[in-house]
Amino acid sequence: MDKNNNQKDVIASIDIGDSKILVCIGVLENDKIKVVGISEEKLSVKPHSDLSFLKEAIINAVKNAEMMSGQDIKELYLGIADEYIHTLTVSGTTTIDPNKKEVTQAHVESIIHSATTIPQTAGVILHKFPAHYTLDGVTGIKNPIGMCGVQLKADLKIIVYRELDLERHRKKVESAGFDVNDTVLETLASSYAILDEEEKELGVTIIDIGAASSDIAVFKNDSVYFTASFNHAGDIVTKDITKSFNPVISIARAEKLKIEHGTVALSNILEDEEIYVPGIGGQGDVPCSKKHLAKVMHSRLREILTIIAYRLEKSGFFDMMGAGVVLTGGTANTEGIVELAREIFRKPVRLGCPKGDLGLGNSIENPSFSVGIGLLYYAEKYRKKRKKEEGIQEITKHLKKVFSKITELIKNVF
Ligand SMILES: Nc1ncnc2c1ncn2[C@@H]1O[C@H](COP(=O)(O)OP(=O)(O)OP(=O)(O)O)[C@@H](O)[C@H]1O
Ligand SMILES: [Mg+2]
Repeated sequence: MDKNNNQKDVIASIDIGDSKILVCIGVLENDKIKVVGISEEKLSVKPHSDLSFLKEAIINAVKNAEMMSGQDIKELYLGIADEYIHTLTVSGTTTIDPNKKEVTQAHVESIIHSATTIPQTAGVILHKFPAHYTLDGVTGIKNPIGMCGVQLKADLKIIVYRELDLERHRKKVESAGFDVNDTVLETLASSYAILDEEEKELGVTIIDIGAASSDIAVFKNDSVYFTASFNHAGDIVTKDITKSFNPVISIARAEKLKIEHGTVALSNILEDEEIYVPGIGGQGDVPCSKKHLAKVMHSRLREILTIIAYRLEKSGFFDMMGAGVVLTGGTANTEGIVELAREIFRKPVRLGCPKGDLGLGNSIENPSFSVGIGLLYYAEKYRKKRKKEEGIQEITKHLKKVFSKITELIKNVF
């Protein structure tokens, strides 16, 4: 392992999905991320059902990514998704001293502090998004510092989660001997890898259809307006396939059949074809019609997308998605799913994959890697922000020292 490399410039992420563990390692070169290691550990056991199995799988995934990159990893950015994570809108107000009338950094800090002080029962804050200010009735102000007024109000979105659940996610990584740098909502992480700034400006929804869950997030400008997750995704499609043949086929065979021959583009199947799959318990080969397979997948995925569309409509944010929908997660690989989603959402829909110009060629262009790669972008962004804040703190400290020396000198002279 390259122990000489400055650890500060190496970033690592982990996505513990229901079907795989993905570890990505990136280095910052000229302020840009380059992916130097990636390791996917397929899970044969559900990650929440056996913690010692999970621990071993995490250790293995990190070890493989370390070997590929030549870097030694101690800390990881962790992606999380859960139905109990949700967005809240919070606000705070303050009155500016009528003699001075000018909004200062201190006013902004105190108003954000009061807006984001939430009761313990509301959970812990995972993310805070930039506030929009109203000064004496004038709305839509992004930065009020230096402006004159009396009544200042801030409105912002925050993402909250149950404290114990957050702890449970962190423990998975910590029990494998690694520290967690930060926990990040998975769809937010993906947004850095797969969305364009223009899409966020117009309003866009990410739908991550993985193995066990489908995660949704509506983005507009710099905020996440709505987030939800529900337990229907690729696994249930596989289960449907298993049961739909006579005699039934195993989960592993159904999964292989789905990935190798599955489609929801019904009109593409002009002539039917049968694939012979070994049956369970030595029952001989089972003839599986491609048309039948497509119908089973189409029916379940249509149902999942329809439920998502309904939830978005109920949330009140459906009309905010000017740029439409970006589908990601492994199930987004299904042939014809983009067209099916266009029909259901009646909005622009595209597939979201991390772009290959990050290093390692097009091997990272897989919708199943959006969270892992997005976490590296997230980490890069927050490191830059932290460096800037540390820089400002240093300058303030220095100025304070200079000021106190001058005061001292003046005292001594007079
Ligand atoms: N070519 C394909 N066609 C159809 N489904 C696919 C294809 N490739 C992968 N999948 C499905 O994608 C799912 C895995 O996706 P992903 O890696 O995003 O899930 P995960 O992150 O492990 O799970 P989750 O996010 O639900 O915890 C599996 O159900 C798999 O069958
Ligand atoms: Mg996932």
